[in-house]
Amino acid sequence: MEHPVLVAILILLVIGLVLEALWFISTLQSIAGGAPFIPLSRQRAREAWAAASLQPNEIIYELGCGDARHLIYACRQYLVTGVGIDISWWPLLWAWLRVSLGGMKKRVRLVWGNIHRINLSGADVVYVYLGQKLTDALRDKFRRELKAGSRIISAQFPLTDWRPVQTIGDVHHPIYIYLI
Ligand SMILES: C[S@@+](CC[C@H](N)C(=O)[O-])C[C@H]1O[C@@H](n2cnc3c(N)ncnc32)[C@H](O)[C@@H]1O
Repeated sequence: MEHPVLVAILILLVIGLVLEALWFISTLQSIAGGAPFIPLSRQRAREAWAAASLQPNEIIYELGCGDARHLIYACRQYLVTGVGIDISWWPLLWAWLRVSLGGMKKRVRLVWGNIHRINLSGADVVYVYLGQKLTDALRDKFRRELKAGSRIISAQFPLTDWRPVQTIGDVHHPIYIYLI
């Protein structure tokens, strides 16, 4: 009787260790990409979407979408179409589960890859919550690829030297909205 219990415990331990290792590798991917996976609070994300005045059928891109919780909310709430991209497959796996189980496959497309490699010309709105360095590194890409009239939402980190059309939140938790 003891033996099978020990085997079961060992199997569980090994599974736990493998999952831990996979999570660790995935976190390294995020950090190497420029920003670890730390989700914005639900309330701030909702304020950000509201401030961007999303219109039905607009196309929104979330660069570094993590588990896509905010993207899925926006697509459902505002009837927009979303594209989420993330370099780290662990949160993206959760994103895929959320999209599939939530019946959002028609509205949300997920891409596993580097932000720098995705073309943004189809976007009406781009949302980012990244570090300062990575946010600034995207300025040229935004200038090159985004169409006139598109909006950029940047949580916490401004686009250095760019003037936001609106800033919401408090001094410690700002969200910047830019217009191209
Ligand atoms: C601070 S989290 C933001 C998560 C989510 N957007 C939110 O607002 O809650 C940053 C995310 O960006 C992803 N990331 C970092 N560098 C990236 C890169 N170069 N390309 C794609 N995703 C990247 C990370 O894996 C992480 O999920």
